[in-house]
Amino acid sequence: MSDKPQTNPLREGLASRPMPQPCTVVIFGATGDLTHRKLIPALYNIAADGDLPSALTVVGFARRDKTDEQFRGELEEAAKKFSRQTVQDELWQSFANRIYYHRSEFGDDDGYKRLAERLKQIDAERGTRGNRLFYLSVAPTEFEGILEKLKQFGLNKTIEGSWARVIVEKPFGTDLPSAQELNRVVSATFPERDTFRIDHFLGKETAQNIMVLRFANAIFEPLWNHRYIDHVQITASETLGVEGRGPYYESSGALRDMVQNHLLQLLCLVAMEPPTDLSADSVRDEKVKVVRSLRPITGDDVGINVVRGQYSAGAINGKNVKGYREEERVDPKSMTETYVALKLNVDNWRWADVPFYVRVGKRLPKSGTEIAVTFKGAPEVLFNKAVTDVGNNVLVIRIQPDEGISLRMQAKIPGAALRIEPVKMDFHYGTSFGKASPEAYERLLLDAMSGDATLFARRDEVEQAWRFIDAIEDAWHKSQKPPALFEYAAGSWGPKEADELLERDGHTWRRL
Ligand SMILES: NC(=O)c1ccc[n+]([C@@H]2O[C@H](COP(=O)([O-])OP(=O)(O)OC[C@H]3O[C@@H](n4cnc5c(N)ncnc54)[C@H](OP(=O)(O)O)[C@@H]3O)[C@@H](O)[C@H]2O)c1
Repeated sequence: MSDKPQTNPLREGLASRPMPQPCTVVIFGATGDLTHRKLIPALYNIAADGDLPSALTVVGFARRDKTDEQFRGELEEAAKKFSRQTVQDELWQSFANRIYYHRSEFGDDDGYKRLAERLKQIDAERGTRGNRLFYLSVAPTEFEGILEKLKQFGLNKTIEGSWARVIVEKPFGTDLPSAQELNRVVSATFPERDTFRIDHFLGKETAQNIMVLRFANAIFEPLWNHRYIDHVQITASETLGVEGRGPYYESSGALRDMVQNHLLQLLCLVAMEPPTDLSADSVRDEKVKVVRSLRPITGDDVGINVVRGQYSAGAINGKNVKGYREEERVDPKSMTETYVALKLNVDNWRWADVPFYVRVGKRLPKSGTEIAVTFKGAPEVLFNKAVTDVGNNVLVIRIQPDEGISLRMQAKIPGAALRIEPVKMDFHYGTSFGKASPEAYERLLLDAMSGDATLFARRDEVEQAWRFIDAIEDAWHKSQKPPALFEYAAGSWGPKEADELLERDGHTWRRL
């Protein structure tokens, strides 16, 4: 572990972003699932890689009664279970010595007074320099109350030369008005430059690699437009169902849970113009332009360009599973979508008439997230004339699992006869770099400690994305004649109407 000097963030590459600074990370909701499964394992892995500032300290804030020792013991168990790297006793001890538990109700004034005193004491003892990173790993209903208390007790202000930042977990609102209200509340406590709205998809290596692929390789960018690209497919499929999170899912559904944030973020990375530099605002300026260019889908168009589905009973990997309406704490007449497929258009010069097909679903046969860019076919002369259906070049960016990139191209099968078959040029992170990629939360926590907001959603991006999504939700839930909710059997690739959405344009979904 080391304290590394800061560097100038401007005009520096993704590789040489500013270094994380000594600070205290205060996790609200520290006894919760996210802290155990993701946040603590991520911090431990950063420490194991030698990238954690030596003066980093963690304070876990929750209401259950426990000592620092008990808290550390529980986190050790979790780290052993969920960490990417094996937990080494000695390293864990030196990391755990910097973790404290702070028992308080979120609404309790005394708890914040004690927190302020404790943070001062930690600064004096641990050299955390008055820097604080507040992580709201709590239900969204708690965001406002915690932010107001942080402000009331001056925890959002620090001494000169130090900083106070906040990381807000998803979901960031449930529609445009609620996101605007949340933005108002957050901005009353922290300025935009200190607000980090997390979207863990952006922390994944391959998501970051989209910009490198596009802008560091001269061969792709000239082809990256409506002249050469036929269409783009973005898929996020899961074999899992709602896994006991019925009440959350009932109020959300696939469109809000996955498309508004993760999938639109991926679409932006694929479709954006090159930013003028790699500063957070330059990158996010370009991304927000993409969301603004999305052709709105409203009224009757929703039934034409969007297909929603809900899984019924079926089988996944040979195991029978319940239908969504039979899941625990789900309305037996629920109209919540567990699958959605959309045909989107980015109405700008680069993407004129190039459809972007986006789909996401639960209880599908395979789990995976990928972006597939299908290029236009070669002219129908020579080989294409002799051999029917040679297929198009497809560039596939695999976000998870087995992160990597592959390019499908045509090759002649050895032999006297002219037979052509698609082959793949394939790049796997694991084999090319000889090690597993860091978890998304590792990168995002490091960035927040460094003050680099490039991989976090900005206020205007979030609001614009909700504006787009709300029109579809309105057609589903507020119109006189809402488009149908189609059933699909668990273990299938979604409703047949989603296949028809592409067949109309002469396309088919890629099989993952
Ligand atoms: N879990 C995930 O994989 C995941 C993924 C993406 C996003 N998220 C988001 O991350 C956030 C946290 O999720 P989670 O799954 O970790 O939640 P969780 O397991 O339900 O944990 C909630 C935490 O909040 C604390 N808490 C609740 N009410 C409190 C109060 N009045 N005063 C003090 N502490 C209180 C609980 O403390 P006690 O235990 O002491 O009561 C617990 O530590 C949510 O916004 C969720 O949407 C979670």
